[in-house]
Amino acid sequence: MEEKKNDQKKVLQLKIDKLVSGGNGLGRHENKVYFVKYTAPNELVEIEVIKEKKDYGEGRLLKVIIPSNSRVEPVCPHYGVCGGCQLQHISYEEQVRQKVEIFKEQLQRVGKVKELPPVEAIPSPQPYGYRIRAQFHVDSGKLGFVEDETLREIKGYGDIVDIETCPVLHPRINELIPDLKRVSVEYRNLREVHITYSPNRDEALIKLIAEDRLTKQDLHRVKNGFLPPWVVGVGSYKRIGRELIRQEFVGRDYTFISAKGFTYRVTAESFVQNNYLLWDRFIETILPGERRGYCLDTFCGIGFFTIPFSEHAFFVEGSDMNHYAIADANYNAKINGRPNTLFLRATPSQHMKRHLDKEIDTVLFDPPRSGLDRRDLEVLKELQPDRIVYVSCNPSTLARDLGKILSWGIYRYDKAYVIDLFPQTAHIESVNFLSKLPEG
Ligand SMILES: C[S@@+](CC[C@H](N)C(=O)[O-])C[C@H]1O[C@@H](n2cnc3c(N)ncnc32)[C@H](O)[C@@H]1O
Repeated sequence: MEEKKNDQKKVLQLKIDKLVSGGNGLGRHENKVYFVKYTAPNELVEIEVIKEKKDYGEGRLLKVIIPSNSRVEPVCPHYGVCGGCQLQHISYEEQVRQKVEIFKEQLQRVGKVKELPPVEAIPSPQPYGYRIRAQFHVDSGKLGFVEDETLREIKGYGDIVDIETCPVLHPRINELIPDLKRVSVEYRNLREVHITYSPNRDEALIKLIAEDRLTKQDLHRVKNGFLPPWVVGVGSYKRIGRELIRQEFVGRDYTFISAKGFTYRVTAESFVQNNYLLWDRFIETILPGERRGYCLDTFCGIGFFTIPFSEHAFFVEGSDMNHYAIADANYNAKINGRPNTLFLRATPSQHMKRHLDKEIDTVLFDPPRSGLDRRDLEVLKELQPDRIVYVSCNPSTLARDLGKILSWGIYRYDKAYVIDLFPQTAHIESVNFLSKLPEG
């Protein structure tokens, strides 16, 4: 296709064939692939080449020449500058279709999975207003998310995109934004604000991450002077690398959520699934069709899957490294009357090692983006449970891990669901079912 050079800029016209991991469009020019953000499948675009490598390039969208049928007007005025969303310019139906294709492509390319199972898509009931957790960056009255990655690379640093509202967040979280901006003017050493909102109880927990310690008195002042009464707890935290260390907390440090008829306590430090509109459906997806034996739920968090699963199994043991989550899970087992559960603080490999002498029916995995580690896979190979349920928020590490597991030649990949927990973003969540092949 046409190529022009003006003022050293390399400008190309490309047809976008499909989306790839990360949400970028992929187009070809003279046997080279180019990745371009904010484009849609089947459209003709003009791009400026911003990175040129031997076998691929990256472009910046200059103009849509012939738009895709799936192109829509983004809802958010900050779209394209804010780094939070990647797919607002694509109709929701097409986003889900593309995620399924990216998911399959990752399994085949990264995991070398030869025979793909049937893959079913579960869309979010609403494509906006679904998130009940937010992690804002703040600085002296500015509050929002960090800029788009390409802008950060060009500038060499990332600004906070100052927002008034964010359309993917639950409306109640948006209501807090003006109050939180005032807090950050008052406390200029504040760097991040993390919110967990319970739509069932209509209450929120807030974590304030500051450079210098906020005292209990400061927290009382913030809670009572700046925030509405439905913010039931406010804590101050210190960031050390990826970890947040609690320093003080005032009010209640937990809330409750309800899903599929179960009630769960969630402490401010515990993980909770972000898209509340899919909570019931997510649990239904992992529940077994028939009664199960002794099962392990690794990376169990608050027991979100463990507790419902235990109604369909002889016994379920959950494990997680977060001691707050384990305390929540134990409490949740009690309030939901699930005596056939037990929770322990352990990594998956430590947990599975304790059961090498047993027949294990099902092992559930729901790891963070990094997936399973080498030891987890080694012990899994020794344990050889009858079934594996792998819940993943990152198709590339999932593909790596499943590729390894399938290479042992003892499991069959039965079924996968792409459950769209994160509409408007490029994140892909999936639930994957494997079962042991008959011996001999
Ligand atoms: C994606 S969350 C899943 C939680 C739970 N399954 C749920 O649905 O709410 C991942 C969990 O893994 C835990 N975790 C992270 N790294 C871990 C590790 N190396 N060993 C055990 N648990 C870990 C986190 O504390 C978190 O609760």
